[in-house]
Amino acid sequence: MPRLAVIGFPVAHSRSPAMQSAALAALGLDDWSYEAIEVAPADFAARVGEMAAAGFAGANVTIPHKEAALALAGVPSDAAREIGAANTLVFGGAEIGPDGGPDAEGGIAAENTDAGGLLAALPSTPLDARALVLGAGGAARAAIWALVGEGARVDVWNRTAARAEALCADLGGKAVAAPAQAEYDLIVNTTSVGLGGEDPFEELPLDAAGFVPGQLVVDMVYGEGSAALLGAAGAAGATVIDGLEILVQQGALSLRIWTGLEPPLDVMRTAARG
Ligand code: ATR
Repeated sequence: MPRLAVIGFPVAHSRSPAMQSAALAALGLDDWSYEAIEVAPADFAARVGEMAAAGFAGANVTIPHKEAALALAGVPSDAAREIGAANTLVFGGAEIGPDGGPDAEGGIAAENTDAGGLLAALPSTPLDARALVLGAGGAARAAIWALVGEGARVDVWNRTAARAEALCADLGGKAVAAPAQAEYDLIVNTTSVGLGGEDPFEELPLDAAGFVPGQLVVDMVYGEGSAALLGAAGAAGATVIDGLEILVQQGALSLRIWTGLEPPLDVMRTAARG
């Protein structure tokens, strides 16, 4: 009976258990299970070390453990290594990814599906697109790595400018202080602005009325807070992709890694929005 889980701290808010459990059922994997495990940072490595013996085939890893997940994986993918964080672990010998990832050989393999999940959510390749990424945390690293890798021209804005500069020196992209909102084909918010009730148009270098038709606006974060940002973008004629769609896409890539099966995206969408 293979077990799967999402490990976080806190993790109670996660939509992954509902989404992945629905997907496992739809795939007929009735003996598989997916649960939420809350683990404090100090206990993370020890807990993950016990999981293979406890019957876990793999796990998703979320805030604040993504860097630690990479650090303890013996077999990180190139993406996870270059991004500096992993959100997907595979225990004991499974192969990672249809795109030629490493074989865990009994160790712990790690992948970052946040990057591929963002690309999968886009309606077309961002090749040559002018992209603005807001933020410089772990989600920003995955977004920038993904977009630079696909040939987008990526600008990065962050409240703390030095973090954006350091990140661009590492991953590519150009740190900007005052982005011209209307000039971007793609705007990706990776900041937690709004989750605590802040007004995104106070905290971010964006005007509610400054979006333009044809733009694509993505929020990598899910929660009540993204409604204001995406609502304004949609009202201005932009196409919007919310954080739950990104969650679905990254989860689908993780599920494919663990099971080798094609994930039921619509089932996952319905369950995630439950
Ligand atoms: P994650 O790894 O999930 O991306 P993180 O590392 O905590 O999370 O990063 C959070 C991001 O949201 C950062 O870019 C942070 O900006 P700073 O680097 O200046 O801290 C950004 N952020 C959080 N609250 C913000 C606010 N009120 N205004 C603007 N940016 C904010």
